[in-house]
Amino acid sequence: MEQTIYRGLDGVHIDTTTISRIDGQRGELIYRGYDIRQLADKASFEEVAYLLWHDDLPTRQELDAFHHDLAANFPVPEPVFDAFRSMPSDVHPMHAIRTAVSLLGALDHEAEAVDDANVHRIGLKLLAQFATFTAAYQRIRSGKEPVAPDPALSVAANFLYMLNGERPTPAATRVMDVALVLHAEHGSNASAFVARATASTLTDVYSAVAAAVGALKGPLHGGANVGVMQALERIGSTAGVEPYVLEMLDKPGGRVMGFGHRVYKVMDPRAIILKDVAHHLAEESGDSKWFEMSLEMERVMDREMEKKGKQVKPNVDFFSASVYRMLGLPRDMYTPIFAVSRISGWMAHLYEQYANNRIMRPRLVYDGPTGLIFKPIEQR
Ligand code: CMC
Repeated sequence: MEQTIYRGLDGVHIDTTTISRIDGQRGELIYRGYDIRQLADKASFEEVAYLLWHDDLPTRQELDAFHHDLAANFPVPEPVFDAFRSMPSDVHPMHAIRTAVSLLGALDHEAEAVDDANVHRIGLKLLAQFATFTAAYQRIRSGKEPVAPDPALSVAANFLYMLNGERPTPAATRVMDVALVLHAEHGSNASAFVARATASTLTDVYSAVAAAVGALKGPLHGGANVGVMQALERIGSTAGVEPYVLEMLDKPGGRVMGFGHRVYKVMDPRAIILKDVAHHLAEESGDSKWFEMSLEMERVMDREMEKKGKQVKPNVDFFSASVYRMLGLPRDMYTPIFAVSRISGWMAHLYEQYANNRIMRPRLVYDGPTGLIFKPIEQR
C-alpha cells in the first residue's frame, strides 16, 4: 500500500489546542483568543504567561498573587551556578541553559509526578528561574558574580537588572516585556512539539523542557536570531547587504537567516511589531546602522523572492536581533532570551499534553533492503 509521507510533518495536526492559533495567510497570531498586537501593546509578560496557563487574563488580585508566587521562586539553587562555573567560557549558552534545567530536575525530589498540581508547581518554578539562571550564566562566564533577583521587579526588569547589575530604565524594561510577550507561544513549533512528544511518554516536566531547549537552540528555530546578527556583523554596512543576500541565494540550499516560515505566507505579525520597536530604538539611540541594514535586507529579499515566486518574509527572529543589539545584549544571549519567554508557552503545552495524553508514535516508511542473509563476522 502506498503511504503518504509528510516530510517535516508538514500539514499534520497532532491534536486540538486552545492555547494559540496562527493564521498564516492573514498574518495573525492569537493567544487564547487575544490578538498578539493587543497583547504586545498593552500586556505585561506576566499577564500573558497567566493567560497561557489559566485560559483567561488575570484580575489585579490574581496578577498580584501570580507575581508573588513567581518572586518566591526567583532564586536559583547554588549548584546550578557551580555547574556554570565548571563550564568553559566559550560554551554555547544554550548548553548551559539546558544543563540548568536538567540539574533543577535532579535536585527536585518531587520531579516525577505529572499530575496537574505538580506540573503547575514545576512550571511556576521554571518560569521564575529561567530569567535568573540565564542572567547568572552571562555574568559568571564574564567573570562576574550573579546578581540576586529583586522580588519587587517584573520578569523583564529583573532579567535586565540581573544581567547588568543596574536598574533598567522603564523604556528598556518595556522593550524587553514586548519581546517576551511576542516570543511566549507559537503553536506546534519544533520545540513545543518536542516538549509534547517527550511528555507523551509520561516522563517528567524537566526532561520535556530540556528537550525543548535543545530543539530551540537550532539555527532553523530559535538560533536564527543569532544567525541574523552574525550575518549583519559579517556584512558590516548597508552597501554590503545586497551582495551578501545574492551570494547566499546563489548557493545550493542557501538560507538568509530570519526569513521564511512553515506557516506564515505573509510577514510574521511579530516581525511587524518588532520592526516598529527597532525603528523607535534606532531613532532614540541615534544608532540606526543595524535597523537600516535590516531594512535593506528585507528589500532585497522581497525583490528576489518575488522573482522566484516564493513567499519568504521576515520572521520573529529578524528584527529581534537588532532590537537586542540596540538594548546592548550580547549576541549569543539572543536565543536564551527566546527561552526565557518560551518556557511559558512550553508549559502551557505540557499542561494540555499531560491532561489528555496519548503517546506520540509516528511512523517511517522503510526504504532499505530486505531478505539479506547473515554472514558470520569472519566471512564479511
Ligand atoms: N532564505 C532563502 N530561501 C528560503 C528561506 C530563507 N531563509 N526560507 C525558505 N526559503 C525557500 C526555500 O529555499 C524553499 O525553496 P524551494 O521550494 O525552491 O526549495 C522555500 O523557500 C520553502 O522553504 P522550506 O525550507 O521548504 O520551508 P520550511 O517550512 O521547511 O522551513 C524555515 C521553514 C523557517 C526552517 C525556513 O524558512 C528557514 O530555514 N529559514 C531560515 C531560518 C529561520 O529564520 N528560522 C526562524 C523561524 S521563525 C522563529 C522560530 O521558529 O524560531
